[in-house]
Amino acid sequence: MTSNKAGTMTYNANTLQNLIAHAKEYGYIFQSSEIYDGLAAVYDYGQNGAQLKKNIRDAWWKTMTQLQENIVGIDAAIFMHPTTWKASGHVDNFSDPMIDNKDSQKRYRVDHLIEAHAEILQQQSNKLQAEALIQRMEKLLATDDFAGIKQLIIDNNIKCSVSGTCNWTDVRQFNLMFSTELGSVAEDANLIYLRPETAQGIFVNFLNVQKTGRMKIPFGIAQTGKAFRNEIVARQFIFRMREFEQMEMQYFIRPGSQKEWYAYWKEERMKWHKEVMSFPAERLQFHDHVKLAHYADAAVDVEFNFPFGWKELEGIHSRTDYDLGRHQEFSKKKQQYYDNEINLSYVPYVIETSVGLDRLVLATLSNAYAEEKWTKEDGGEDSRVVLRIPANLAPTKLAVLPLTKKDGLPEIARDIINGCKSSFPCFYEEKDSIGKRYRRMDAIGTPFAVTVDHQTKEDGTVTIRYRDTMTQDRIHMSEVKGKVLEAIAV
Ligand code: GAP
Repeated sequence: MTSNKAGTMTYNANTLQNLIAHAKEYGYIFQSSEIYDGLAAVYDYGQNGAQLKKNIRDAWWKTMTQLQENIVGIDAAIFMHPTTWKASGHVDNFSDPMIDNKDSQKRYRVDHLIEAHAEILQQQSNKLQAEALIQRMEKLLATDDFAGIKQLIIDNNIKCSVSGTCNWTDVRQFNLMFSTELGSVAEDANLIYLRPETAQGIFVNFLNVQKTGRMKIPFGIAQTGKAFRNEIVARQFIFRMREFEQMEMQYFIRPGSQKEWYAYWKEERMKWHKEVMSFPAERLQFHDHVKLAHYADAAVDVEFNFPFGWKELEGIHSRTDYDLGRHQEFSKKKQQYYDNEINLSYVPYVIETSVGLDRLVLATLSNAYAEEKWTKEDGGEDSRVVLRIPANLAPTKLAVLPLTKKDGLPEIARDIINGCKSSFPCFYEEKDSIGKRYRRMDAIGTPFAVTVDHQTKEDGTVTIRYRDTMTQDRIHMSEVKGKVLEAIAV
């Protein structure tokens, strides 16, 4: 093996701003409707982002359905009967406490406002004060003490970032669901919601799937799909969006077994983040919920250390029989399962795993992004920006680059691509110097680059370059496909 670099390499801590700029420049993520100055908290995935997202979705789907004997996947509609959301509790409970600044008219989620202030305290080395503030906030939110929350904001002199004043309204609850009308004539139209979670599409299909699939408890139903929330303070790039994608699995179990299955899925999901997503253990942690959602008797977040700190990536919730019980009550249709092992009919309990696909994309990019500098053998400086995306998730797996545009080299390169492209995405490029082409592939995160040169015509060998180490090997072109396939298998 040879290396084209020598000396020290430094990894800069990535800032969110660098990552956002890189994601745009290399076709990963664009602001939605950018030519009209964008739409807040809505994003579009470009050619590389869409493929990365698909690879992550496929990896989740494989783990959660194909590799499980008793979990099946469905694809329910975004629009659901409006009573669904009454039954699920979202109409009455899916709201966040908000506060408005009377001078700027700007509205804030109180927890975000207080957390942002705690972050400033941290930066000013007032760590203890920051922790005390967060603890106090969590206590007050857990008891819905909104007067106490307002007082906490005033006592800490927390100001609106726009007006710079402390002139706050009372704290009020705002529902996060988007609504629209079904039907063409406004008077006859029914108010319906864009689903704020995909889970309800699973609950209302519980019996359809159980009966048609002859499923026996315990069993799971998984699905991926869009969800919509009118997030008031939407920030931190694709971390908090108004339109996003969830990947959820509801695991139906016997009442009384929820503690055991909750512990099981907590561990399984953490294992997936480490083994399939290749997130380092030190960037992952569990965080127990202080305030439980209206449907849960236990809940924990898998948190990831994003460039802006530890934040929720996935939620694991013990949802009891709340959802099926409520759908039974509102639809007047039994949502029961006859368990012939114990001769009992019951409404099953549910353990839910719910992960945000966009947050997984952000975590992957944050973990992969590195700005590197090193001293070359001749004493000069060199640098690159690289996305060290794991090979199984990288949008393009292999770049094939003819050294020149003539002498039959492009034809050999195309032959290599033709032999590989039905198995994984490849990229062909003949413009610019080979060094520049390598750098572009590093920036996109392509793990392998093969160069076809004049020696290839003589002995059929090519140079294969590895993105992460920048080392190169000379191998026969017939070995290329196998090498890539081996690297992308998880
Ligand atoms: N069915 C349960 C449920 O929806 P949640 O904790 O509200 O639970 C689950 O959401 C996951 O969905 C979160 O862990 C997060 O990854 C993702 N998510 C939630 N709101 C989001 C938003 N506004 N933007 C991006 N992802 C979001």
